[in-house]
Amino acid sequence: MSNNLLKGKRGIIFGALNDKSIAWKVAEKAVEQGATITLSNTPMAVRMGETNALSEKLDTKVIAADATSVEDLEKVFTESMEILGGKIDFVLHSIGMSPNVRKGRAYDNLDYGFYDKTLDVSAQSFHKMMQVAKKLDAIADGGSILALTHIAAQRTFTGYNDMADAKALLESIGRSFGYVYGRDKGVRVNTISQSPTLTTAGQGIGGMNAFFDFAEKMSPLGNASAEECADYCIVMFSDLTRKVTMQNLFHDGGFSSMGLTQAIVEDYIEKK
Ligand SMILES: NC(=O)c1ccc[n+]([C@@H]2O[C@H](COP(=O)([O-])OP(=O)(O)OC[C@H]3O[C@@H](n4cnc5c(N)ncnc54)[C@H](O)[C@@H]3O)[C@@H](O)[C@H]2O)c1
Repeated sequence: MSNNLLKGKRGIIFGALNDKSIAWKVAEKAVEQGATITLSNTPMAVRMGETNALSEKLDTKVIAADATSVEDLEKVFTESMEILGGKIDFVLHSIGMSPNVRKGRAYDNLDYGFYDKTLDVSAQSFHKMMQVAKKLDAIADGGSILALTHIAAQRTFTGYNDMADAKALLESIGRSFGYVYGRDKGVRVNTISQSPTLTTAGQGIGGMNAFFDFAEKMSPLGNASAEECADYCIVMFSDLTRKVTMQNLFHDGGFSSMGLTQAIVEDYIEKK
């Protein structure tokens, strides 16, 4: 169903790998709501993943880029403005990757080269994206920039490993750049803290299936799906949230405010 919430807006969506990706759902919904967009992902993901299939479906262009490369990001913003015919109104950073998680390195046995990579890909790339966009004056007044994060930035979750540190940095970058970008250009910057979601990145986290089940029982509204997250992103890109900025917005069915639910109590009693 379309309310044309993004009619006439131009956007860039980073991180749609396959139809499980949160970015994939955001791209579909953005177009459904009247936006024109470009897609971006790493050259490897474009070759091996399904980003091209999504671009055909939505009649959009894919611009391959490693989000840790300032040069690649300059290309994404410059080409997107050319393709879409003007400044960009919204950007989604939906990017995360930890080589330590991938290689099964425990938090007290990190490889520091991998650690640097985790922080660069999953957090610093958000800063690079905004610094590039601001220098190119690529974002329209009133524009909206979002990154996706997780509550492991505030509280410790076993298995989340160095991604927790990356998410803490990501959220801080959102606040700090949100101030500068709001003050100078009237651009909003927020992070959305999403429930555990069974995507490629999500399933890489140790104990994900147990955490997914636990969070489902710990959230009065249940876990938020990728599709529901996309709906929230659309509202944040729209003109309905013009004065929301520098926020970390929980989209988690209530999980972040709960201490203990009846469902967990019953589960625990059953298993005793
Ligand atoms: N799945 C979850 O449980 C969950 C929960 C909260 C937040 N998030 C966050 O949502 C975002 C999207 O993840 P997802 O769950 O949709 O998984 P996903 O695996 O579908 O998406 C991750 C994307 O990051 C891209 N990427 C990796 N390295 C990159 C680089 N150097 N440059 C550009 N892109 C790169 C991948 O190609 C992929 O498209 C991530 O930031 C993730 O941490 C996920």
